[in-house]
Amino acid sequence: MDLQKNFVDSVNLFFKEKGKEWLDSLPELISYCEEKWSLSMRDPYTLSVNYVAPAIKEDGTEVVVKICIPGEGFLDELEALRLFKDQGMASLLDYDQEKGIFILEKLSPGHTLAEISDHAEACRCAAHVMSNIIVPAPSETRLPTTKGREENLRRTFNQNPNGFGPFSKETLEKALNVFTYLNQTIEKYWLLHGDFHHYNILASEGDWLAIDPKGVVGEIEYDLIQYMLNRLPDHNVYDVTKTRVDVFTEELNLNKERLILYGYCHTVLSTTWTVDVDGSYEGNFHQFVAIFEKMYASTFGKSIEDRLLEDEF
Ligand SMILES: Nc1ncnc2c1ncn2[C@@H]1O[C@H](COP(=O)(O)OP(=O)(O)O)[C@@H](O)[C@H]1O
Ligand SMILES: [Mg+2]
Repeated sequence: MDLQKNFVDSVNLFFKEKGKEWLDSLPELISYCEEKWSLSMRDPYTLSVNYVAPAIKEDGTEVVVKICIPGEGFLDELEALRLFKDQGMASLLDYDQEKGIFILEKLSPGHTLAEISDHAEACRCAAHVMSNIIVPAPSETRLPTTKGREENLRRTFNQNPNGFGPFSKETLEKALNVFTYLNQTIEKYWLLHGDFHHYNILASEGDWLAIDPKGVVGEIEYDLIQYMLNRLPDHNVYDVTKTRVDVFTEELNLNKERLILYGYCHTVLSTTWTVDVDGSYEGNFHQFVAIFEKMYASTFGKSIEDRLLEDEF
């Protein structure tokens, strides 16, 4: 079977031996889907670590088949898709938990929000989508939380007390304090998309709908950071990020200070996720640490350090 090279590389990188076995079993899984749901699968979309392809059912209905490696990620996405049912998101039509398969409503025309080149306009469309997927967090859930993200950064700091990747001890400590402050002062918990960005927002009959929720529990302000890290311009990243922060906070009536602080601590965390054994890391994420720090100072007239001193932790 001829598979996209980036897809094969990513699956092998993330899932190692399990990924290789899964790739080998893909032809079988595709036949399984075609038989179980009486459909015919077409060529896949551009893939990352899941096999996603349009398909046509015997009665002519178009659907999308998403085949994932079964496990935690699949179960989180399943719970999120169910909780977001009828909420500005492509519908889940059926699934197979054991084999890690979703059958989804096919969105049409289905191009992504990345096709809108004006950053402010794209952001207003994204804000509209976000306003349609605002759902309170369920009281009991298996989904990860922003507290878990803080703990993840704490573990990295404890294991690397003198610094990690591009970060000094002081920066890790500061980001951790910001995360702690934010988690301790959450007033209301929401179900978050968990991977809200241009490539997971698709055009659907004159509107925009979300796909691919990972499911996280926390504040809406946190859910918007992933968007900021995508579809970057070659120049003026600061200005585009500022526009995005302004549009989101205005359109969705959000707390700008919390959004920028989440931006700061989350981009430290997501940079730590990319640090390789040779010490290299994702520069695209890293640049945002300074961007959010600068934006905080210019918006609030004080540094994040000064802000932290105002509250006791
Ligand atoms: N419901 C859908 N309708 C139309 N296209 C879809 C749908 N779901 C996914 N796609 C296409 O498949 C691509 C990958 O799907 P996605 O669920 O985002 O997978 P991944 O989790 O690997 O990012 C999307 O970027 C989009 O182009
Ligand atoms: Mg996606």
